[in-house]
Amino acid sequence: MFRAPLMLWKLSPYFLIICYVNCKSNFVQMKIVDEVSNYGWNAMSGPDSSTSNLKAKVEPGAFCGPKHLKVLQGKCFTLLQEDYKYKFCPFFNVTQHERSMRWNPYSGILGIWKDWHVVNDSLSSMNFENGDDCGDDSRQVKVFLKCGMANNVTNVEEPRRCRYQLTFDTPLVCHSDSMLIYPIINSTLQFQWNQIAQDLHDNYITQKGYKKLTHMLFAKAGLVTGKLLNADKEKRPETFQTLDTCNAEYAKLYETLNSKSVQ
Ligand SMILES: *[C@@H]1O[C@H](CO)[C@@H](O)[C@H](O)[C@H]1NC(C)=O
Ligand SMILES: *[C@@H]1O[C@H](CO)[C@@H](O)[C@H](O)[C@H]1NC(C)=O
Ligand SMILES: *[C@@H]1O[C@H](CO)[C@@H](O)[C@H](O)[C@H]1NC(C)=O
Ligand SMILES: *[C@@H]1O[C@H](CO)[C@@H](O)[C@H](O)[C@H]1NC(C)=O
Repeated sequence: MFRAPLMLWKLSPYFLIICYVNCKSNFVQMKIVDEVSNYGWNAMSGPDSSTSNLKAKVEPGAFCGPKHLKVLQGKCFTLLQEDYKYKFCPFFNVTQHERSMRWNPYSGILGIWKDWHVVNDSLSSMNFENGDDCGDDSRQVKVFLKCGMANNVTNVEEPRRCRYQLTFDTPLVCHSDSMLIYPIINSTLQFQWNQIAQDLHDNYITQKGYKKLTHMLFAKAGLVTGKLLNADKEKRPETFQTLDTCNAEYAKLYETLNSKSVQ
């Protein structure tokens, strides 16, 4: 039986790398409510090297993800840890403020909201990128949402230089289905996902192919970008030179997927 999507996949595996579908920029002015997790900050001595002169390199992406997380948008949560105050503004940014009597305490942007990291077909962590410069690189933060009694930043680590990991406790992720992707995408994309899963089940595609096709689908849903696919660049000889070609290939793939489903 002729399986067109597979063929196309073999011919044009590389275009995914060039297709970027971002959590679209869509900056909205909103009221900021500070929810301070560690009380007593004001009572402590030392200036709060404040937020006022921080300059973001990019605008944050639009909200995307499970609707029930939207209540976090426009709020900020802080953690005092060692010499720093960390401020996490979900779907906006993560900043760091040195608590020091020095005349120029460090205050900086660790990352700007970009997109989700997906593991096992579920939303796993939030990516904040394009933070302040760090050598030739920019600071980045991965935010892990963990089930907890209250909204609270509980830990910040820097496992690698300028790569931060922030843990945020929240009751919003306690249900085991709260971070599933399938229920939050529209019926067209669900339908396409069913087809891809069927192809995997029938061994028409490999696990790797499944990962790529679903990643593309998540990109269509606006949840992720295409960057994850850079990993196997070297094995892929074909490249698509222009965004137009890329989009055309992308369109073709979906057309084929759709027409197959009508048969
Ligand atoms: C971080 O996001 C908050 C909440 O939207 C905003 O008030 C603040 O200006 C942002 N900070 C920077 C440095 O962009
Ligand atoms: C992903 O799912 C597999 C199989 O269900 C499981 O073994 C694995 O631990 C899961 N990985 C994560 C990070 O949840
Ligand atoms: C928030 O987390 C910090 C750090 O783990 C902890 O000290 C604090 O008690 C927590 N606050 C709430 C309200 O749970
Ligand atoms: C679902 O989302 C995709 C990607 O944004 C879009 O192309 C499609 O038209 C949407 N379908 C429905 C039924 O809204």
